[in-house]
Amino acid sequence: MEHRHPDLDPTALRDDPVEYSLRPQRLGEYIGQEKVKARLEIALQAAKKRGEVLDHVLLFGPPGLGKTTLAHVLANEMGATCKVIQAPALEKKGDLAAILTNLEEGEFLFIDEIHRLSAPIEEMLYAAMEDRKLDILIGQGPSAQTLKVDLRPFTLVGATTRAGLISKPLHDRFGMVHRLEFYGRAELTIIARRSAEVLQVALATEGAEAIARRSRGTPRICNRLLRRCRDYAEVKGDGTITQASAEACLALHEVDDLGLDGLDRAYLEALCGKHRGGPVGLRTLAAALGEDEGALEDLVEPYLMQIGFLDRTPQGRKATEAAYGYIGLKPSPGPLFS
Ligand code: ADE
Repeated sequence: MEHRHPDLDPTALRDDPVEYSLRPQRLGEYIGQEKVKARLEIALQAAKKRGEVLDHVLLFGPPGLGKTTLAHVLANEMGATCKVIQAPALEKKGDLAAILTNLEEGEFLFIDEIHRLSAPIEEMLYAAMEDRKLDILIGQGPSAQTLKVDLRPFTLVGATTRAGLISKPLHDRFGMVHRLEFYGRAELTIIARRSAEVLQVALATEGAEAIARRSRGTPRICNRLLRRCRDYAEVKGDGTITQASAEACLALHEVDDLGLDGLDRAYLEALCGKHRGGPVGLRTLAAALGEDEGALEDLVEPYLMQIGFLDRTPQGRKATEAAYGYIGLKPSPGPLFS
């Protein structure tokens, strides 16, 4: 989409080597999500003490909060490797069977977007998770036979942005379910500083705060904004990211002082303007914006709810007074930084 901010495109960030280098490797380096970390720390220690594999873990929350990172961190803590697969890439039962039978003892399997598994593949996972067994159908028609294959102990980490779309049988097979929350400004400031050290760029305290404030509670966005600010400081300044250079850079990228971008503003304008604040259905809003419903639900709405701009009611989406205030103060299109 023309107004889609690249920092919000989850597909653009996968397999990105720089993004990867910024990821913490161990739980001790992982900033924020304190409750989740405390629970995982106990589970890790208990599993290690018993010499068992870690229980299966389901992680949910908006994109960019560190679900993949956490899966790798857990594997590292257990001294294991982690295989990664996107659920939609599993088309046939044989695809999953091949992956599961090839897992080494104790290995982790991370299935991203696990709510998008097809029903037959999801059903196949049940026995794999519960009994470490796989039922493989051999042959066709009346002579077909089921072969039971034993799997080596493994840990499945499932990630989803849509907890509501996980079926109960799948949900119930996870020993732990953790919800990742948006990060606070102080945490994002620390993440920005840590990433700046990895990238070897000088970052002033106020520069880190300016980036953190506009990161929509999301480390992935924080790290992307940091990289844009590094470019800007190197080209327009002396290489140090100061508050002024960070703000000028983010204004250039049309990220406003709440971290909202063109699509967020278009969403609020459609909701507050055309639809008079709602309630209005997601489908109607998506059509008005020429956007995918899923993209709005994953990438736009969670943060607008977090900052108190949006209510999701049974009747539809409703703007809050704060959203009106924001739109009224900063009519769009127009200059955001004057
Ligand atoms: N980089 C991305 N997410 C992070 C986190 N939670 N802690 C430290 N560095 C990060």
